[in-house]
Amino acid sequence: MRKKIGIFGAGNVGASLGQLIVFTGLADLVLVDIAEGIAEGKALDLGAARPIYGSDVKVAGGTAAALIQDADLAVITAGITRKPGMTREQLLETNAKIVGQCADAIKRYAGSAIVIVISNPLDTMTWVAAETTGFDQKRVMGMAGALDSARFRHFLAEALGASVKDLQAMVLGGHGDEMVPLLSYSTWQGEKVERRVSPEVLNKIVERTKNAGAEVVAKLKTSAFYSPAAGAFEMIKAICNDEKRLLPCSAFLNGEYGVKGIFVGVPAVLGKDGVEQVVELELTASEKQLFEKSCAGVRASVERLKSIKA
Ligand code: 2OP
Repeated sequence: MRKKIGIFGAGNVGASLGQLIVFTGLADLVLVDIAEGIAEGKALDLGAARPIYGSDVKVAGGTAAALIQDADLAVITAGITRKPGMTREQLLETNAKIVGQCADAIKRYAGSAIVIVISNPLDTMTWVAAETTGFDQKRVMGMAGALDSARFRHFLAEALGASVKDLQAMVLGGHGDEMVPLLSYSTWQGEKVERRVSPEVLNKIVERTKNAGAEVVAKLKTSAFYSPAAGAFEMIKAICNDEKRLLPCSAFLNGEYGVKGIFVGVPAVLGKDGVEQVVELELTASEKQLFEKSCAGVRASVERLKSIKA
């Protein structure tokens, strides 16, 4: 039977992700948004594109959370986005409330769903979704690594004048300024990019990858959406089709990488059960140090939220 995917938030990210789902015919789709008419209108619009896409999936939208009843997968994109000059962390308090409400609705209407969080600050919002639903942590994850790694691969491909298809690269850690693009695992069909690109250029690419979200915000005056939607779609496809893809995502750590009790970007095997395995890569001493610093930042954000709520 076809899967059902519910998306909270029919703004730029939610609608772009919805379009990918309908275009590919991956699953039935419901869009939920508190703003009157937005989800309903976009669902109507996407539905009308189905004959052209040749897609028979069902599409619905509205303000009622109950629309996600029995969804197999629920995606939380709802929340405010950054304006130029803002950090993701500045969204913490507002988005924690919104993500908490969405997670409550997921628990109520789609108790068996796998949950993917896209709202920022990403790793902390994923923690909020897990705490609120009480779901097994394997069923809750955040989309960031797929996006950050895609940005890294995009910039590397440009520097090499190569196809993006031949670039493998990964970004670990929290989805913030301290994310960790791993040069030691960046290859052009197996060959380390460090052998092809100068350290100066690679350093610029690493920094640009870390700031790629802010670079878009500065120009667009709101957050990126095509690439975040594409990153989420890659994860959703892996789960719906039980692909066992190894993708970086914000997953719960229970001792892996020496970290416990937070969600943070690590390579994970994604399949029908959600995060089926966290893969522990061997990191260089400096990558390890940067990863630990990034995890400390995520932990501090979670602690900040707990103290606000207390
Ligand atoms: C970004 O990096 C939306 O946080 C997201 O663009």
